[in-house]
Amino acid sequence: MTTANPLLTAENIHKSYTGKAEPVHVLRGVDIRVNSHDLTAIVGASGSGKSTLLHILGGLDRPDKGTIRFRDADLSRMDDEALAGFRNRNIGFVFQFHHLLPEFTALENVFMPGLIAGKSMAEIRERAEYLLEETGLKQRLDHRPSELSGGEQQRVAVARALMNEPEIIMADEPTGNLDEANTDKLLSVMMDIREKEQTAIIIITHDPRIAGIAPSVYNLHHGQLELPAAGNS
Ligand SMILES: Nc1ncnc2c1ncn2[C@@H]1O[C@H](COP(=O)(O)OP(=O)(O)OP(=O)(O)O)[C@@H](O)[C@H]1O
Ligand SMILES: [Mg+2]
Repeated sequence: MTTANPLLTAENIHKSYTGKAEPVHVLRGVDIRVNSHDLTAIVGASGSGKSTLLHILGGLDRPDKGTIRFRDADLSRMDDEALAGFRNRNIGFVFQFHHLLPEFTALENVFMPGLIAGKSMAEIRERAEYLLEETGLKQRLDHRPSELSGGEQQRVAVARALMNEPEIIMADEPTGNLDEANTDKLLSVMMDIREKEQTAIIIITHDPRIAGIAPSVYNLHHGQLELPAAGNS
C-alpha cells in the first residue's frame, strides 16, 4: 500500500523539446513521490533532464504527458495564473544563480513573495527579519545583492524561498557556484530550517556530500528516475 496523503506525486512524466533542431525526448516516464519533510536528492549527468524535471515538478513548466499532484491539487488542471499563485504559496525555489533583484536590498528581496501573496507588511517584515537572522544575515539586511558575497546571496535566496512557509523547497544546484565553506554553510542553514519548519526538500546536485546526507537519492538516467544512486540510509 502507499503512504497516506503524500505531499507531491508525479506519475509518468514525459517531456520533449521540439524546435528547429532535432527533438529531444528528455523525460520518458518519470515517477516520484515525496512526503512531508522528505529530503530527496536528484543526481544525473549534465543534460540528463534534472532541471527540466524540477521545473515541471514545481509547476514552472508543464509536461507533455503525465500528472503532478500536490496534496489534493492537480497542477495540470490549473491555468497559468492559478499555477503562479499556487507556486507562490506552496513552493520555494532556489537556483544555482541566486536570481535576486539587483536594485533591492536583501530584506526587500525576501519580502517579495510575501507581497505577492498579499500578506500584511507587519507579518512580512517579521518573517523576513527572522529568516535573514536564521540564515546568518542579520547584519546584511540593507545590502544590495552586489554588496553581498556569493554565499550570502545564496542564503538570501534561501530566505526568500521560505518567505511564505512553503511545504517544499526545490533547489537546482544551489551550491553549484559556492566554495566548500559556503556550501557547508548553505546546507546547514537549509537543514536547520527544514527541521524547524518540517519543510520537504528536493535538491539537484552534483555534490556527492549532499547526496550523501539525503535518505533518498534518485539518478535521472535515460529519462527515468532510478533508485538508489547510492546506498544511503
Ligand atoms: N528550451 C529547450 N529547448 C531545447 N532543448 C532543451 C531546452 N532546455 C533543455 N534542453 C535540452 O534538454 C536536455 C536536458 O536539459 P536540462 O537542463 O534539464 O539538463 P540538466 O540535467 O539540468 O543538466 P545540467 O546538469 O547541465 O544542469 C539537454 O540535452 C538540453 O540540451
Ligand atoms: Mg540543470
